[in-house]
Amino acid sequence: MTRRKLLKSICTLISLFWIAAISSPVVKFILSPLKNKNEGPKKYRLVHLSQLKINSPEQFNIVSDHRDAWMVTPNETVGRVWMTRTSEIAENPKETTIRVFSAVCPHLGCTIQSTSDKKSMVCPCHKGMFHLDGEPISNKKLGYKNPTPRSMDSLNYEIIKDEKSEEWWIEVEYQKFKLGPTTKTPLS
Ligand code: FES
Repeated sequence: MTRRKLLKSICTLISLFWIAAISSPVVKFILSPLKNKNEGPKKYRLVHLSQLKINSPEQFNIVSDHRDAWMVTPNETVGRVWMTRTSEIAENPKETTIRVFSAVCPHLGCTIQSTSDKKSMVCPCHKGMFHLDGEPISNKKLGYKNPTPRSMDSLNYEIIKDEKSEEWWIEVEYQKFKLGPTTKTPLS
């Protein structure tokens, strides 16, 4: 190799090194929405256990920073859940039973509501109907085909004691699921 060629190769290598060093953060920034897309389940403290009424479904908002491509909007409602306490508060509050469901309808994603008598749940978009335990109401009982492909999507929760206030809180693990399948499939 001639000296001139060697110098040229060294210059090319140095240039490539600098291009890689400069472009790396830019590439990371451009690809960040893809990376942030799959955030998975996240825990939210939603309500004091004592504030949850028995056998009466209540809706709670999931408030978090909303990430949309390169934009982050703080304190957005990113989801909704339905919660029902189904037993008296147990001596050991952790043993109190609660039902927690995502309010996202598994049919096409509208928000499920409670009926006015609070005895069942209804999706206003295509009249999907559910019992309070999240199971779909049968076509026979409805007199039409219930459009929901599956029951309401249950969510994991934990009843935890706040160290400072010593109050018992319900902490819900919120996540989204695929719309349409007959079985609950987390969005990944
Ligand atoms: S989106 Fe709920 S029934 Fe269609």
